[in-house]
Amino acid sequence: MIYLNGEFMPIEKAVIPVLDRGFIFGDGVYEVIPVYSRLPFRLGEHLERLQASLDSIRLGNPHEANTWQELITRLVGLNEPEDQSLYLQVTRGVARRDHAFPANTAPTVFIMSSPLLPPTAEQISDGVGAITASDNRWARCNVKSTSLLPNVLLRQLAVDAGCAETLLVRDGQLTEGSASNAFVVSNGIILAPPKSNLMLPGITYDLVLELAAANNVAYEVRNIAETELARADEIWITSSSREILPVTTLNGQPVSNGRPGPVFKRMHGLYQEYKAQVMRSAPV
Ligand code: PDD
Repeated sequence: MIYLNGEFMPIEKAVIPVLDRGFIFGDGVYEVIPVYSRLPFRLGEHLERLQASLDSIRLGNPHEANTWQELITRLVGLNEPEDQSLYLQVTRGVARRDHAFPANTAPTVFIMSSPLLPPTAEQISDGVGAITASDNRWARCNVKSTSLLPNVLLRQLAVDAGCAETLLVRDGQLTEGSASNAFVVSNGIILAPPKSNLMLPGITYDLVLELAAANNVAYEVRNIAETELARADEIWITSSSREILPVTTLNGQPVSNGRPGPVFKRMHGLYQEYKAQVMRSAPV
């Protein structure tokens, strides 16, 4: 079941007019929210980032936070799996094709649920491969925009190379992955690229740094030079769907000894503990 513009319906019934600006221009923003045991994880943070994205593209928020919460709770209840991945999209609506904003057009609001596919045990125990590529996206990567063609092309480079992710480098610095944030561990210290217009402020990125701070795991938020990647002790990627994954080969070369490192294992444990604690403390 999905939600589209005020109605819940089977996905097969859901139809969008061809003049939707999401279809014509990619004129919209989105969120991906994991749901564990029917509880949306960090929903408040996702709704805040949605607001920031809408503000950035000058589109009014169609709903108050409590309405979003109600819609999401209902949709989660209408779908079978205990663990779901919610995809939520707001576009500038349906209008005659013209680049400029249409007047008085209602936004299109779409929410769908898919089964959540967490990382496999093998990905966690062995890590994944990544490649690097030049970050040729626009200069507003902090907006979670549905205009994802550059990300699509960059991710495909990884798939073509038999890898899981493409790590992006702009002006000699690591920005993020094509659909994830990136971390490096150097001399036992977690390094995280500082938030800027050149990367998405990840909800998982924030949680990793929160957990590091709360558990006295050393970290530093600073620019990471491309040259530091080749000699990193560890590299990780994070996202709402992939949680935290160790990158154990980069451009075909092993990262350090080619195995997930001790700081990853600690952070992965803290992350799973945190998830379990959130689920335990939620109202039934
Ligand atoms: N992508 N950077 C980019 C470019 C992303 O697309 C994503 C997530 C992230 C991680 O953000 P978060 O931790 O909030 O999921 C960073 C989602 C999962 C997607 O497009 O499917």
